[in-house]
Amino acid sequence: MSTFDPSQIKTIGVFTSGGDAPGMNAAIRAVVRTALQKNLKVVGCLGGYQGILDNDFHILDRKSVANIIQRGGTILKSKRCLEFLKPEARKQAHENLVAAGVDALICIGGNGSFKGAQALYKEFQYPVVCLPGTIDNDIAGTEQSIGFDTAVNTALEAIDRIRDTASSHNRLFIVEVMGRDSGFIATTVGVAGGAEEIFIPEKPITVEQAVSTIQSGIQRGKTSSILITAEGKKPGRAYDLAEGIRKRSGFEAKVCILGHIQRGGRPTARDRVLASGLGAKAVEVLTSGHCNVMVGIQSASIDVVDLDQSLNSQKTPDHELLALTPILSR
Ligand code: F6P
Repeated sequence: MSTFDPSQIKTIGVFTSGGDAPGMNAAIRAVVRTALQKNLKVVGCLGGYQGILDNDFHILDRKSVANIIQRGGTILKSKRCLEFLKPEARKQAHENLVAAGVDALICIGGNGSFKGAQALYKEFQYPVVCLPGTIDNDIAGTEQSIGFDTAVNTALEAIDRIRDTASSHNRLFIVEVMGRDSGFIATTVGVAGGAEEIFIPEKPITVEQAVSTIQSGIQRGKTSSILITAEGKKPGRAYDLAEGIRKRSGFEAKVCILGHIQRGGRPTARDRVLASGLGAKAVEVLTSGHCNVMVGIQSASIDVVDLDQSLNSQKTPDHELLALTPILSR
């Protein structure tokens, strides 16, 4: 954690970056209203880092965040900005922020977005605080990221529906969920949805293992099964797994890729509360003169974590939970 003189802060900038996540709006609302309460000005940067490069700054008042706590997506828009990987773009961004009178930034996003914020601090000592906002939940230093709970519940609802039709038709289904290179969504919905097997990048199982689970289920009288796979190269995309299973066993699997459905929709109560708490804390951290940190959840309480430490660590899904899958779905 780094420190600076908080009396230099009159205006805070806030932006959302990377893939949107349900609950980002609740976080923006909390940032704006907490900052206004402390007599600070708030500026929203539209479209993530690109918005900073384009000087797309907008004053946010109390009213501009009214009626957004229940909305998915982000009112500040979001982008993946590859341009920001270039030092000259970051220099330009810093100059734009200073010229616009924005004294510190709150970044809501995932690991990639945090790296941009980290660079702004390291290269210009510009005060930044990050909030974990991604459905993937792959950010080290926080037990949960904003959007994860909603995405999990959205995917779970779909899996429950698939279970109905799989059962009626005695079918095997492979459901592919998001997560980029991580298996948090897959593990959680797999356990919650009673999946027969779960494929995740962090602890891949083989096609043979899945086939053997399906076969032993059939021997015990099971008539349908659902396998969950995380997207990404490592476990293999759902259609490749279906083909692998067909080749080894002759079983025909139906494939369902849930895709961006998992990114949208009304945030759950849990995500709204999480985002509200983290958003408010981010402002308090800045006004107490701390920066280059992420505000997250540790042992179910709001906590402040060094940004470098978060970015240098890896977070993996609970392997014990994963190991329960074939036992509980027997
Ligand atoms: O990081 C969130 C996420 O939804 C990942 O799970 C997924 O791999 C990726 O974003 C998809 O990104 P895009 O919407 O840019 O295709």
